[in-house]
Order: sequence, then C-alpha cells, then structure tokens
Amino acid sequence: MKKYILALDQGTTSSRAILFDHQGQICGSAAQEFPQHFPQSGWVEHDPNDIWQSQLAVARKVLHDNHIDAHQVLAIGVTNQRETTLIWDRKTGEPLAPAIVWQDRRTADLCDDLRAAGKAKKISDISGLELDAYFSASKLKWLLDHVPGARAKAKHGGLAFGTVDSWLVYKLTGQHVTDVSNASRTMLFNIHLMRWDYDLLHLFDIPESVLPQIVSSSEEVGNTHPGLFGAAIPVAGIAGDQQAATFGQACHKPGMVKNTYGTGCFMLMHLGRHPVASHNRLLTTVGWRVDGETDYLLEGSVFMGGATVQWLRDGLGIIRSSAEVEELAASVPDSGGVFMVPAFVGLGAPHWDAYARGSLFGLSRGSTRAHIARAALEAIAYQSAELMTAMQKDASIPLTEVRADGGAARNDLLMQFQADLLGVPVVRPLVTETTALGAAYLAGLAVGFWDTQEEIAAQWRCGRRFEPAMGADQRADLLSTWARAVERSKSWTD
Ligand code: G3P
Repeated sequence: MKKYILALDQGTTSSRAILFDHQGQICGSAAQEFPQHFPQSGWVEHDPNDIWQSQLAVARKVLHDNHIDAHQVLAIGVTNQRETTLIWDRKTGEPLAPAIVWQDRRTADLCDDLRAAGKAKKISDISGLELDAYFSASKLKWLLDHVPGARAKAKHGGLAFGTVDSWLVYKLTGQHVTDVSNASRTMLFNIHLMRWDYDLLHLFDIPESVLPQIVSSSEEVGNTHPGLFGAAIPVAGIAGDQQAATFGQACHKPGMVKNTYGTGCFMLMHLGRHPVASHNRLLTTVGWRVDGETDYLLEGSVFMGGATVQWLRDGLGIIRSSAEVEELAASVPDSGGVFMVPAFVGLGAPHWDAYARGSLFGLSRGSTRAHIARAALEAIAYQSAELMTAMQKDASIPLTEVRADGGAARNDLLMQFQADLLGVPVVRPLVTETTALGAAYLAGLAVGFWDTQEEIAAQWRCGRRFEPAMGADQRADLLSTWARAVERSKSWTD
C-alpha cells in the first residue's frame, strides 16, 4: 500500500490539504476559502471555528477524493498563517473571541507606547522582531484586556493562547503546543535561549499560564483523535508558513533566499545556526528546529502581496478572478506612470509604518484599469525589491538568485518584472506548493519517511528561470520613483 504524508496549510485566506508521496510529488489537494472580517478600519478577524472547520473539511476531502485510507498517511505536517492570535477555554475548547489576524493594526498605539517608553531595542534584542502590531504579543494583551472574563480565566489557569498551529494541533490531538518557528513570531520568545521570555511576558502583561508548550518543528507531538479521519495519525511536523516554505524550497544553506508571493510577500534568507541581528530593519527569526539543531533566518515581511490583486477583484471590481490580472496588466506595455503603494494595512519591512495607507500616484486622463492592474502587480515586485536591497546590505555575501513560490509566483509577467527589478534571476520550482511541501518534509523526517535534509534538497527541481533583462538606468529610475511614492504614503492616518 502506497504511503503518504498529509500537509495541512492553513493560510490567511484559505485552508489547503495536500498529499505528498516519497518523491515529494503532489498526489492530491483540496482547498477552501473562508470568510474574512473587517469590523473596523485596520481590523482583520477570522472566526476560529471557520479556520478549524475549513481545515478539517479539506483534509477529509483530499483523502476521500483520492481514495486514501488514513492508515496510508504516515504523518501530518501542519503549517499556518503566523502571528494570528487566538484564545480558548481549556475546559470546553471553545474560543472566547474572534482570532486577531496578523494584518490587524488595532494595537499600533500600544506598540507606540512601548516605543515611547524606550522598549523597542530590548524587545528586538530578545525576540529578533521589530516592535509592531504585526506580532502576537500586543494582540494577546488586547484580547486579555478587552474580552470579558479572559484575564480572570487566565488567572485560574483556564485560558489557552495559541497561534493557528496551536489551535489546529489542539483540535486535532488535544495537545496544547507550538513549534519554535511559530513561537518566534509571538514577540514573547527568546530566540537566543529558545524559551518563553519572562521580561517580554512582563512587558506585555501576559500570564505564563496561557502559553503552549514549545516543541521542535519535526517531532511527533500527538495522534489525531480517531474519530476525525477513521484512524489515529501522528502530527509530526509544525512550522510557520514562511519557514516551511523556506524548508520546502531547500534553502538549507546560509545565503540561500526564497520569496513567497502569498497574501503578503515574505523574503527569507538562511542565516545558519546563529541568530544575526539585522541593521536594516529586517527580522531575525527561527527557521526550524530539527534533530536538536536550530536554523535561523533573516526575514523581510510585506503585508500586501497577492492580497493587492484580491483587492482589485473584491474591492475595486476591475477583474472577476485573480487569474485575470495578468492578461489585463499585459494589455498595456507599462503602467503609464501609475504607481500603487498597497499600504492598506500599513507598511511592513523595511519601513514599519502602521499609519501608512494605500495610495495611487501618477494618474492621468489616459490612465485605465489596465494601468492600475499593472501598477498593482508591479507594486508587489517593488516591495520585494526593497526587501532584497535591505537583505543585501545585511548579508556578507552577494545574493545570486531568489527562489519564488506562492500563488502569485505563477504570474510570468510579475516574475519577469521581479527579476528585472532585482537584477538577479528569479527561479520558480517545479512544485510551487513549497509551504505545504516544507511541512510534509518536516513531518516525514520525524517518522523516517525521509532520512536526511540532503535527501530532501536533492528533490528540488527548477520549473522556470527568469533572467533580468532591464538596463541599470531604467531600474534605478523606477526604484527612485517608487521610493518617492512610498514616502508620500507614510503616516497618512497618524
Ligand atoms: O506572517 C504572516 C504570514 O505567515 C501569512 O502568510 O501565506 O497566509 O500570506 P500567507
């Protein structure tokens, strides 16, 4: 009987389940979008039950549609949208509030207060992160302070906090755990000592009783309740989606870089076995912990990547499906001088401005929806180019290529423009579901489906390589106009 690893990829806008075989090939997949809630400007919420139900539904569907028995699944790997913050009752398992999504800006002022109190450096020294509402700590404090009864429940040990990995693993197995990569995005974790940090807990007024137990990214943490899939399956891999994608892209060696074009854009570079602090406002984060060894990554996070195209579809209504954007953008030779800064939820790296907002520049009477579509696509590439510039400044070695993945990496126009702006080749692998693949690899390593990271790296195959074709002068001109547009979008709601 053929054996598989099942990856559960719980993203910001959809839940996916993908079956991988021993060659790292996709043998079946299922996906389901779930509702996004925007109760106030700058707020983004998910219903924790939607997260769980959609994830369970696609996991069952992929097994059912491919006639695979749960006994054929050697292990489950879980990967997830990171930082999104949930609380639930330990006794009933019921969530106490909507999940506060990573894009949510409601705690920007709380972060400002900590910055004004001179805490930013200490926080970044311990956690590797920029003091920003993006991370879980301020969101968890907000929940404890605003959800009736939450703090009292925590005091008596009755409240659990988790990021999405914790929530899913809890629902799957009953265990309350998180892996080191997800923990490193909470702003409560000491990335040097690899444990929850008492100073940070104190700073954010978080009681220790709510925290999950920390596990490594590749180990058996528990079996699924037999009723879920008809047999108990071990959950053996957990990693935040960007770290999982880096693992799935086989960026296992220092200096290797991947960029994921998902809801946001996340460029990560392998740092090796020691955390190195950025001097250019990037994040130092835990990649994964496998066989007792921790790998660290440098990360640039951009909040609006593919979500910009989603906005063209759902907000502006100029396309009916996300796939239409390439054709519309390609119908004009360039953006006609239109620049879009998609700071809809502020700006992430390297600007970290929670008060910036989305802006369009350079509109003329000749501007059309095609120019706006093109400007939106190009904005994704401009933001990634800024990450690469910052990364290049931090890195002691020249970056020679970027491995691309994520939904929008299927867009050839975007990939070519990206290579043009970066001035280095952009390489798209044959299997672009690298987030799920990374989670599968981590789980498979734990149960002996794969033996070594070298074996995994040997499975990576190039799908298409985009070579830079733009002259240096044109690149410099475009990047400097982009920089002007970004400056004008900053502090809009301050
Ligand atoms: O840090 C947020 C990130 O993990 C979200 O990823 O794939 O849902 O855009 P994605």
